[in-house]
Amino acid sequence: MSGLVFRNVSRSFGAVKALTDVSFDVSAGEAHALIGENGAGKSTLLKILAGIVQPESGDLSWQGEPLKFQTPRHALERGIGMVYQEMLSFPNLSVAGNIFAGREITKSGGRLDEKAMRERTAALLAELHVPATPDTPMDRLPAALCQLVQVARALAFDCKVLVLDEPTTSLTDAEVDHLFAVVEQLKRRGLTILFVSHRIPEVFRLCDRITVLRDGKHAGTFNRAEATPDTIVRAMVGREPPARVPRASVDAGRIRLAVTRLSRAPRFRDVSLTVRAGEVVALFGLVGSGRTEVLETIFGITPATAGQVEIDGQRVTIRNARDAAAAGLGFVPEERARQGLFFNLSLVPNIILPKAAKDAVLRINRRNDRREVEHQVATLHIKTASVDRTPDTLSGGNQQKVVAAKWLATSPKVMLLDEPTKGVDVGARFELHALIRQQVDAGMACLMVSSDLPEVLALADRILVMREGRLMGELDGATATDDAVMQMATHEVVA
Ligand SMILES: Nc1ncnc2c1ncn2[C@@H]1O[C@H](COP(=O)(O)OP(=O)(O)OP(=O)(O)O)[C@@H](O)[C@H]1O
Ligand SMILES: [Mg+2]
Repeated sequence: MSGLVFRNVSRSFGAVKALTDVSFDVSAGEAHALIGENGAGKSTLLKILAGIVQPESGDLSWQGEPLKFQTPRHALERGIGMVYQEMLSFPNLSVAGNIFAGREITKSGGRLDEKAMRERTAALLAELHVPATPDTPMDRLPAALCQLVQVARALAFDCKVLVLDEPTTSLTDAEVDHLFAVVEQLKRRGLTILFVSHRIPEVFRLCDRITVLRDGKHAGTFNRAEATPDTIVRAMVGREPPARVPRASVDAGRIRLAVTRLSRAPRFRDVSLTVRAGEVVALFGLVGSGRTEVLETIFGITPATAGQVEIDGQRVTIRNARDAAAAGLGFVPEERARQGLFFNLSLVPNIILPKAAKDAVLRINRRNDRREVEHQVATLHIKTASVDRTPDTLSGGNQQKVVAAKWLATSPKVMLLDEPTKGVDVGARFELHALIRQQVDAGMACLMVSSDLPEVLALADRILVMREGRLMGELDGATATDDAVMQMATHEVVA
């Protein structure tokens, strides 16, 4: 049975060819992965399928019937349900409100049938094992559950094809297990799954076939059984896979960051830690363990209820980003759209502003700035038509690289990183790791949160494990194993 067919699909944005003549098909009922480097065209292809972007040429069909959508709503009605890379929920509506937004169930006479929507929502939440009620406000849900609510929305519309664009980037292993169990269950029910991820082991675990895009072109479709991770990475980058950064044998220097009995009740309590010059310390824990809150409190985004922070032996009180820059503190936040980027400015000021604020430079030297930004763009392979573009024209992973670049440009004394390589492709991930390592070796101290355990094990000199708002213990990064870290994050540990 012919499933979903893409035939000669092309699309450009100005001078950028996002997709060139892409043809492949997805069999009905299979789980199919779409992978490729940042900017390869994955999201664009999915947006065409979901009716958000129109192709310039080429066509799509589902079981022999042509698919041509003017709006996302239209695609949803034809059975294409999408879980987006950037969360598009309505934070101030309830879960039920989000699931039925734009297609409310009405009674005769046109009044909303709140009861029917609430019941249908409750049934979907139960089916997906989401511990929430139809009335839970969306902004109370952790990211992992927001994604499942998007899946529930697709199911409420009775979708045949479920499209997931990087659904796992900020999920920890246990949450990925939950999501995958749901996806497997939907697949058994006959749904066709199209899945984008930069985590190659996940792709092999979930998908029957794997399509690789490179620079907007189809670079091959592989059966899981016939491919290895190396085959896939080679097809992605068109050359030998990049080498891992060797862990430098660090001589940790003086204490740069000292956090003493820091609390922000009720999210976390009594967190004490130090990070030395030349050290990467990872804060690991499940979503909800308080890891991101610790970084945000150190950076002054949310006030502490007790405790103190010292940088290079000086007690600091940080109220805003300017204080932070002056104190020598940098922060790469997880939610780049909300905290990391100015979408109305081009890449040059986006990357230069924090550095200018730190150096208290009032007059910006245009020519030097441009040169510096061009250098950063080249080092990190940020794919953009020019440094004069705004961040919204970049792919998700390339936006993340811009956020990292702007803070690394300030050469802070202490760098806080929250999911630094979220959505970044395998090759660029190593480049970012190398850049972080280089600055750390030059004397920076780095405190990092990452739910990607391989990344934690590759980068961290020490791993501090948090659970339910408290530090549970510490592991040596060089000798720690997946199991040891996970055990500490999930079980009571007797020290
Ligand atoms: N609205 C837009 N305006 C201009 N350029 C765009 C726009 N949307 C996408 N592009 C460009 O099209 C190319 C493909 O982007 P796309 O988002 O499809 O990549 P991707 O494979 O999803 O990458 P990632 O892994 O980083 O999410 C990129 O070079 C991007 O800059
Ligand atoms: Mg994308």
